[in-house]
Amino acid sequence: MKKQIKSKKRVFEHGEVFTNEREVKAMCDLVAQECDRFDSRFLEPACGDGNFLAEVLERKLASVKKRHKNSVYDYERYSLLALSSIYGVDIMADNVKECRARLFGIWNREYRSVCGKKCNSQTVESAVFILSRNILCGNALTMMQVDAEQHDTDLPIIFPEWSLIGSKFKRRDFRLDVLLKAQDKPDKNALFGDKLSEYLSVNPVTGEYMPEPVKIYPAVHYRQIMGAE
Ligand SMILES: C[S@@+](CC[C@H](N)C(=O)[O-])C[C@H]1O[C@@H](n2cnc3c(N)ncnc32)[C@H](O)[C@@H]1O
Repeated sequence: MKKQIKSKKRVFEHGEVFTNEREVKAMCDLVAQECDRFDSRFLEPACGDGNFLAEVLERKLASVKKRHKNSVYDYERYSLLALSSIYGVDIMADNVKECRARLFGIWNREYRSVCGKKCNSQTVESAVFILSRNILCGNALTMMQVDAEQHDTDLPIIFPEWSLIGSKFKRRDFRLDVLLKAQDKPDKNALFGDKLSEYLSVNPVTGEYMPEPVKIYPAVHYRQIMGAE
């Protein structure tokens, strides 16, 4: 069984206790249908080395394999889509590194098992790039990026929203604080002078907040995702 703590010091300083596999699976079972959908988005704040993200990715990839194992083109596109729908934040840089490596290991193992000799190095680079943008080092409470000592910087956490259109991926970047605020009910007075207001508009029909991207990138081929920069 995997260890649930790395050291007492880390438990004391960062509350670092990892969830065991049985609980992770039981919680994922509660949203089993979402875990099977290639494109349903999951965020694990305080992700550690990605216990929940790893389970969700395994389930998504099993679904991609079931439907697309006979086409390299489809398996590549949809397995990248599955990977791109998974997001994590952790305040510890070593956990972020481990989480990216773990998720890459899962994705790559499945890619090799389905596509074998037809595996393509550019597709692998796309997977690595997605993970470098989706699993970030930051403070999930303040939603700011942190430095090597876990202190907040003045840079907000920014996540890409990926969408697959044919053979291309579209990328739009959003601030995490804006995405979360957009789930609130709009309050004109509260919004006035709010530092987030420039990234939120109000839908005239539904009256709900709509988050505005900080950047929109041109669509790129799925094997050249690192070109979305
Ligand atoms: C309780 S563990 C949970 C890890 C994982 N989600 C799991 O269930 O196995 C807590 C994690 O939160 C991280 N952490 C603590 N404070 C944080 C913060 N303010 N922002 C982001 N991550 C934080 C720690 O580094 C640690 O990896």
